[in-house]
Amino acid sequence: MSLLEVIDLKVSFNTSDGVVQAVRGITFNVDSGRTLGIVGESGSGKSVATQTLLGLTPGARVSGTALFEGQDLLKMDGDQLRRVRGKQIGMIFQDPLSSLHPLYRVGWQIMEMIRTHEPEVTKAEARKRTIELLGIVGIPQANQRVDDFPHQFSGGMRQRAMIAMALALNPKLIVADEPTTALDATVQAQILDLMSRLQREFDTALIMITHDLGVIADIADDVLVMYAGKPVEQTDRRSLYYRPHHPYAKGLLESIPGSTGAKGRLKPIPGQPPSLINVPTGCSFHPRCAYVMDRCITDEPPLRPVGAATEGAGHDSACWLPEAALGLGSDAEQLRAKAVGEGRVGAAKQLAARISSDVKGTVAR
Ligand SMILES: Nc1ncnc2c1ncn2[C@@H]1O[C@H](COP(=O)(O)OP(=O)(O)OP(=O)(O)O)[C@@H](O)[C@H]1O
Ligand code: SF4
Ligand SMILES: [Mg+2]
Repeated sequence: MSLLEVIDLKVSFNTSDGVVQAVRGITFNVDSGRTLGIVGESGSGKSVATQTLLGLTPGARVSGTALFEGQDLLKMDGDQLRRVRGKQIGMIFQDPLSSLHPLYRVGWQIMEMIRTHEPEVTKAEARKRTIELLGIVGIPQANQRVDDFPHQFSGGMRQRAMIAMALALNPKLIVADEPTTALDATVQAQILDLMSRLQREFDTALIMITHDLGVIADIADDVLVMYAGKPVEQTDRRSLYYRPHHPYAKGLLESIPGSTGAKGRLKPIPGQPPSLINVPTGCSFHPRCAYVMDRCITDEPPLRPVGAATEGAGHDSACWLPEAALGLGSDAEQLRAKAVGEGRVGAAKQLAARISSDVKGTVAR
């Protein structure tokens, strides 16, 4: 049994404009000591999916199952979830200022969290543990900085303090939602390095949410690529990097500067993420896909096994292109071209011409 097993999670919100289908059915597992990277553009449902597991999406309509050590998180009441949050599952958010209270000293906030979940711990013990934790995450002179207010910390230090807070109760799982987006590249690399080191040391499971495949390359074992609230490709990191199947995943890879497929030239994905109130018919990526075929406009592709995963974890993709069309090489491109040649006889022809002119426009800009 995996530490966390999420099965067919769906989350929607009623709004005055209509029902926002933020998460439209995702399934994944995370084991102790492993890192799952969840990647996708802004608005693809990454945060909503994970926040819902912890009861942090009030008002949402939720269905599915989320077994954490066999207990369904989605069936827990507020008190049960409060006991799980922090103690069993730690969270690190993008903006530490939204999680660290500006009017309380950093150390005090960590101590309070320890004492709330473990009332038997004395103040002195909690302070000692807090100083140790701040030291572990690389805060210099932790015994003095423990009494600083959040504004006296730099952005990188606040992020480290958040990691210390997430680790304070030795949780079995940490959910990190874009923990390094606000930081410059050097500090980002240090924080990612720190997280993977601590994770190995404590055998913690980690869910790393990001829109940056570079972060995934540094830290993840398995990857879930989300598009419009659904997983479109799910596999281990190596398979995703060397043998992507879904054109959206391929596009994300090619938009990394200096990526394998881009040969040094950046290829942006044309168009905008779709509305989650009116999700496109068929494949939700079809209005932006350079390989769009007629059936993509009408039939939704199921998530199905493609090729063989390089590290045995399975490799699934939700795309109508042939299963063997994997990777960025010319063989795969020929397979794609053949499928497109046969599958594009009606409406997809016009659409493809428009997408192709969008790509030229984006590159020219
Ligand atoms: N409380 C809410 N009410 C209505 N819609 C919501 C609510 N919370 C989130 N959404 C919508 O759900 C969708 C998914 O949002 P989510 O925050 O999960 O995206 P994300 O993938 O985390 O994006 P980002 O990379 O920008 O953080 C978005 O369209 C968002 O506007
Ligand atoms: S199903 Fe069709 S539109 Fe969707 S990603 Fe695959 S080729 Fe593109
Ligand atoms: Mg988010």
